[in-house]
Amino acid sequence: MRIVVLVSGSGSNLQAIIDAVAAGKLPAQVVAVGSDVPACGGIERAQRAGIPTFEVPLPRGASAEERTRWNTQLADQVLRHEPELVVSAGFMRILSEQFLQDVAVPVINTHPALLPSFPGAHAVRDALAAGVKITGCTVHQVDAGVDTGPIIAQAAVHVEPNDDVATLHERIKSSERRLLVEVLKAVAEGAVRLHQLPG
Ligand code: GRF
Repeated sequence: MRIVVLVSGSGSNLQAIIDAVAAGKLPAQVVAVGSDVPACGGIERAQRAGIPTFEVPLPRGASAEERTRWNTQLADQVLRHEPELVVSAGFMRILSEQFLQDVAVPVINTHPALLPSFPGAHAVRDALAAGVKITGCTVHQVDAGVDTGPIIAQAAVHVEPNDDVATLHERIKSSERRLLVEVLKAVAEGAVRLHQLPG
């Protein structure tokens, strides 16, 4: 299974995928890693692993037109690597309906909360502020909404009394890394079948 991974940050989820492939635990190939954040940790991890990378930055305060152009450029870069699956692993941008149509393969995302609770970019902070005692992570297929696509798998994480956003997010991320690799394995082995969602 040819995978293109999109990242914006430290890339620890990407690293979990790279390690699982290298250990022979995931029958897949990361054919490229793309980012909207030049030289972010995820890009560096890909380069260390000898994986081709591409960067498509989105200008700050981009207009609707610029966003449309950015989605097209991103889709073009993704398609050059002929993926069978695109994984958004800590990619902090919304992918447009046009992008999903253009890449024409399933796109999955990992989210640090139990969707449909706490969608959006501040899921860990929002869960902590709401006072929930259990949160977790979700791997879901991406549709045109914000963290709204069909849920594939979830894992629960307890909120500890002294947690702050950083400590809670770290525990969620270790759970996310395991869950993401498990889901990718199930998809690669055909145990989970994903279909392209209507745009
Ligand atoms: C993950 O919690 C992901 O769900 C969120 O950002 C974090 C990315 O971590 N959107 P990393 O870059 O994979 O270390």
